[in-house]
Amino acid sequence: MLLAPSILASDFTDLKSEIRKIEEGGADLIHMDIMDGHFVPNISYGPDIVRQISEITDMPFDVHLMIENPERYIEKFITKNTEYICVHVETSVHLNRLIDQIKSTGAKAGVAINPSTPAAMLDEVLQDVDMVLVMAVNPGFGGQKFLDLSYNKIKALDEKRKHMDLGFKIAVDGGVTLDNAEKLAASGSDIFVMGTYIFKAEDVRAHTEHVKKQLVKYKQC
Ligand code: DX5
Ligand code: ZN
Repeated sequence: MLLAPSILASDFTDLKSEIRKIEEGGADLIHMDIMDGHFVPNISYGPDIVRQISEITDMPFDVHLMIENPERYIEKFITKNTEYICVHVETSVHLNRLIDQIKSTGAKAGVAINPSTPAAMLDEVLQDVDMVLVMAVNPGFGGQKFLDLSYNKIKALDEKRKHMDLGFKIAVDGGVTLDNAEKLAASGSDIFVMGTYIFKAEDVRAHTEHVKKQLVKYKQC
């Protein structure tokens, strides 16, 4: 059970201390939401910021690319911290090539799917990926409402993973809170991306610690 806070919801004027709080609270990965204003209707931050953050923390990065032509940018997001690079299936007509490109950098390869994209779109690449990121909201903004259709999609991926004896992780992203995390864990999720729920807490450090403990508990159930 891995907790991956998305810094999209953090206070960017005080990013260093925001990162300290999630580190001290026991978060596992920093989720980086990269938006280009084309694939999604919002613009966030880019490779220079990601590189600068890598200079102030040892936490691993989970880089979620919500951008068109991701093949042009993969190498730019490689830092000493980059563990996963995750691209959207909807942005690539040569997904196998893109997955190979990510792996050739030494990063783990993730593929994300929008709520309206069926899990079956990934059938031919499941054996090659390290992570599938299930979007539980339409990407572009933090703070949106979780879509219930995500449970069945996660379950279907978990069943395929067992059936095919594969080891990819299942991440869930968008509207994730402790109200849905237990059911998400039971459905097969391993990585919980949380933006608003973590960073809008009054005491981010204590809340991160609490959330992490609960996630560990759900795993044991
Ligand atoms: C949405 C992003 C998510 C989002 C999560 O486009 O991919 O990572 O920021 O934020 P919350 O947890 O607020 O939905
Ligand atoms: Zn994300």
